[in-house]
Amino acid sequence: MFICKVFALLSVLSSFKAQNTNPKCDFTINEWPGYSCYLSLTNPSGSNSFTTVDGAHISNLTNDNILQVKNNPATLTKNFPSIICNQFPNTIKIEFKQAGIEGIDGDSFKNCGDLQELNLAANLITQISENAFSENPNLSGLTLVNNKLTTLPENLLANNPKLSALLVSNNPLETIPNGFFRSLTNLQALFVQHTNVKNLQPDWFKSLQNTQAIYLEYNMIDDIPDGTFSNLRNVQYLSLKGNDIKTLRGDAFGSRTDFQLIDLSDNLIESVERKFAEQIKAQVIMMGGNVCYSGTVVHVFRLRNLERCMKNYVA
Ligand SMILES: *[C@@H]1O[C@H](CO)[C@@H](O)[C@H](O)[C@H]1NC(C)=O
Ligand SMILES: *[C@@H]1O[C@H](CO)[C@@H](O)[C@H](O)[C@H]1NC(C)=O
Repeated sequence: MFICKVFALLSVLSSFKAQNTNPKCDFTINEWPGYSCYLSLTNPSGSNSFTTVDGAHISNLTNDNILQVKNNPATLTKNFPSIICNQFPNTIKIEFKQAGIEGIDGDSFKNCGDLQELNLAANLITQISENAFSENPNLSGLTLVNNKLTTLPENLLANNPKLSALLVSNNPLETIPNGFFRSLTNLQALFVQHTNVKNLQPDWFKSLQNTQAIYLEYNMIDDIPDGTFSNLRNVQYLSLKGNDIKTLRGDAFGSRTDFQLIDLSDNLIESVERKFAEQIKAQVIMMGGNVCYSGTVVHVFRLRNLERCMKNYVA
């Protein structure tokens, strides 16, 4: 009888243990950023009650020396448990790819105050708390590519003015809130490709005074509202390739930006306002694969090539 009870207790304990195996690090020293944890974790239920990350440190090094956390390929977890940043508070780089993460809450990265690079590509993320990155003022690179996001919280990046690269491509995004980009005055490159975004908001890009490249390829954009690109002083490369744009109006681009290249190829452009051609400053405009123009490149000094498009324009 007693033995039976011990067996029952042991099997309860061991099944409990099997479900709650702690995250575990293999520690290694990389050239950059330095001391790193390669993390194994099997957490299909999305538990966030782990109390420690296991693993034996390289001699003399401690949790505080960890600068990078990367998942190893077999990792499967519904969340990013907050124990990771609690235990490794000085981490500057986190890469958790293809790990099955479905949601990011406000505590996941809260204690990684120095985080600079975060890569969450190829997970299954549908939800992100608007506070997810509010304690990471030094965040400079964020990739959320290849997830299941249909929108993003308006204030998600409100405390991340140092962000210089933002990648949200390959998500089923329907829309992005109006003020989403508003604090990103240091953004250099923006990637919003292969989404379901249809409506460009004229306010989106107003704060992007330092952005040099904007990639909006293969979305469902069918119009460029007046003012959308007219305040972008430093953008050199703008791609709107592979959208459903029908008309180009002058006030959408304005005359203040000296674009090197604007790619408008593979849209449905059938008409172009004369004002667009007269005031646009761009070294190269790519227009191939449109309704009123099927050549490849239109150079600014040959905007007369757009004569047919301009004849079609009705104000
Ligand atoms: C560990 O620390 C001791 C004492 O500070 C030092 O002598 C030793 O070289 C260190 N070892 C490593 C591997 O850094
Ligand atoms: C962010 O970066 C600055 C400047 O490099 C540094 O002084 C600061 O400690 C970092 N961390 C936080 C949380 O601001």
